[in-house]
Amino acid sequence: MTAQQLTFREFLLSERSRHQLDKDLVFLLEDIATSCRIISHQIRGGAFAGKLGATDATNVQGETQKKLDVIANEIFVRHCSNCGRVAALVSEEVDDVYWLKDNPQAGDYLVYFDPLDGSSNLDVNLSVGSIFSISQLPASIDATDDRSVLLAGSEQISAGYSVYGPSTSLVVTTGSGVNGFTHQQGTGEFRLTFPDMTIPESTQEFAINASRYRLWAAPVRRYFDECIAGTEGPRGKAFNMRWTASMVAEVHRILTRGGVFLYPRDAGNADAGGKLRLMYEANPMALVVEQAGGAASTGTDRILDLQPTSHHQRVPVILGSREEVELLERYHKDG
Ligand code: AHG
Ligand code: MN
Ligand code: MN
Ligand code: MN
Repeated sequence: MTAQQLTFREFLLSERSRHQLDKDLVFLLEDIATSCRIISHQIRGGAFAGKLGATDATNVQGETQKKLDVIANEIFVRHCSNCGRVAALVSEEVDDVYWLKDNPQAGDYLVYFDPLDGSSNLDVNLSVGSIFSISQLPASIDATDDRSVLLAGSEQISAGYSVYGPSTSLVVTTGSGVNGFTHQQGTGEFRLTFPDMTIPESTQEFAINASRYRLWAAPVRRYFDECIAGTEGPRGKAFNMRWTASMVAEVHRILTRGGVFLYPRDAGNADAGGKLRLMYEANPMALVVEQAGGAASTGTDRILDLQPTSHHQRVPVILGSREEVELLERYHKDG
């Protein structure tokens, strides 16, 4: 078997010896991979089992929950509770932090997840995904106080996502690069198909929901106007645009061929600070993108440096190819 075909377990065990990964972290990452495999299966059978469509419930962010949002959340909760070192689960779909241990210890794991990302795409059969992040309880904790989970993204020890697209992929970082796996039908294994994923520094592709142009601030409008001006404009390049409305799919495209993704603060989400969630979307994707050589910013601050104030907090997100993110930061400085 070549290195390209390592199973996820073989890969984790080799990382364990090369980078001293804790064995409980290996177990937890395997539980997360299992969750993603089961969610992928549920999604592919959704129309047969009457699992498409919405529930009557609304989550804490005011979004109507899809049936599969709830199912995916339950799958994560069930499988990520296996590992005795997990102190708490923090989910986009659940109001409160779910403490699993009565007496959590410093070093125990905190698992943050967006069980189903891009769920507006479910009913129209486009790519969706799951996003996860793992940190450790610091020594100075007030056990089971929900504020103990408010750790900066720079504290993450692992993060990644799964895309349920034409194939199911799993992309993971444990802090030493980014590796991509494809779910193999038949064996049921995730196999290492995209080792050492990197994001090119330059790009001619951007992703933004352009229907919100009227709501953007001046720096984002300036950037967009220059991109669509083509070779005659100040950028001197003909940019291409994509928008899938599924952050996992956008980030996966950027890891595959470069690009920049923006969900900036705009007049429609100014009170919340942005649309995307810091703990379940921005932080994990920022770690993955930085580990692949890209950059992730709010426009003014590095995402991984943000000190969270609440676990459902939202932030502006600009991430991907380094040159574009740095240019957008310059435009934000110019005002
Ligand atoms: P979720 O389905 O987890 O609520 O996340 C949806 C997010 C993100 O994946 C995507 O980039 C964005 O919302 C799409 O927003 P618009 O519908 O405004 O395009
Ligand atoms: Mn949602
Ligand atoms: Mn999401
Ligand atoms: Mn979601």
